Amino acid sequence: MRLATKENFYRLATTVHSTLRNFDMIFVTGEADLSLILPETQSDQAQIALSRILSRAEVNGVPPWEVRSAMVSVGEEGWDSGEIRKKLKIGKMEDGTMADFDADGDNRILVVGDKSGVNLVQLLKEEGFSNAEAFVFEGDKLPDILNANAVIIQGDLDKIPDLAHQLLPALPDPSTPIIVQYSERSEDSDLTALPESADYIPPGASNDYLIHRLRRSLDMVQAQSDAKEVESFILRLIRLMEEGDSDVLGHSQQVAIWAVRLGGRMGLSPEEIEALKWGGLLHDIGKLFLPGKILSKSRMLTAEEFAITKSHPRLGFDLCNGIGILEPALPIIKYHHERMDGKGYPEGLRGDKIPLLARIIAVPDVFDTLIRRRPYRPAFPVEEASKIVMSEAEKGMWDINIAKQFLEMIQRK
Ligand SMILES: [Fe+2]
Repeated sequence: MRLATKENFYRLATTVHSTLRNFDMIFVTGEADLSLILPETQSDQAQIALSRILSRAEVNGVPPWEVRSAMVSVGEEGWDSGEIRKKLKIGKMEDGTMADFDADGDNRILVVGDKSGVNLVQLLKEEGFSNAEAFVFEGDKLPDILNANAVIIQGDLDKIPDLAHQLLPALPDPSTPIIVQYSERSEDSDLTALPESADYIPPGASNDYLIHRLRRSLDMVQAQSDAKEVESFILRLIRLMEEGDSDVLGHSQQVAIWAVRLGGRMGLSPEEIEALKWGGLLHDIGKLFLPGKILSKSRMLTAEEFAITKSHPRLGFDLCNGIGILEPALPIIKYHHERMDGKGYPEGLRGDKIPLLARIIAVPDVFDTLIRRRPYRPAFPVEEASKIVMSEAEKGMWDINIAKQFLEMIQRK
């Protein structure tokens, strides 16, 4: 597999790594070139693996045009995966099954439309979607409940309003991907009954393209569901960390909420705003590793205790480093205690050397801390906390433009 540029190479390599089986082998064969060896794999299975990698890579942000070439070649040698696993000592799958590539078979795909849907189901089954089923719709009634991981609507677009009227309430999950394969589209075609997320396969597109879009849709749903699980796990971790000190309960979530709003006001990209959300939630996660007696201490920290506390940005960075979804938030976690005048920690970065997203988080972080009661002082009222933040920004602690925008946002509620 060869990429046009090396920018997305890491993303592609990570995708490949998470897609293949334990005994498959990956080689970096050039600056933007990956080669894979898939032992005991027939050419059709290798094609499915390649298609799945490209689809997941697209979900992970590698656009299809970035992959300049991707091809499958089949060697004549017989491979003994057991021997290979023994030699490489990396195998965990004892039965050598095609577990990951067979994941398509777990998905229930409904093809709804005219009679040609039966042919499409046959093709889907040949491609590994063994749980595909056709529903012929000719104005008659569909079942009340249709359990499906994805729906392909086929045929005449004029039937879409009627079909959608029955189909959508029957799908238990409103986010079920819907793919529409149609032969003709006139200006009169009323598609408003379908969700905006529906994917339209234009006339003349090959079946390979349809299968690619189907896998991409399924992977996106899977990625969203994985992200939700990760988020709920992270929220539990944060709660665990904050529970030791009732005064800070909810701090990380509040910082994340403000940072996301602030990022929106500043016109940041969706990716940067997503990073602010994760960074806001996780900026203090390194405190999980600090002794509980320091976190719950009811008096001012000693110099020694404060020095220990100052390790939390690095500890948090180390904890989250290597987790793909959290990668954009790493600079926030590591640098949220840096100061514009260079007197922050852990590296004493100065001014613009501090990543923008870390400079943003620093402001709601300090503001939220001020309006909370601490062991050594009562909570500051919002007005007074706002003045303190502004005066500290003027003294060179915080980015003054960010502080101004934040305080303006807080005043407007
Ligand atoms: Fe912190």
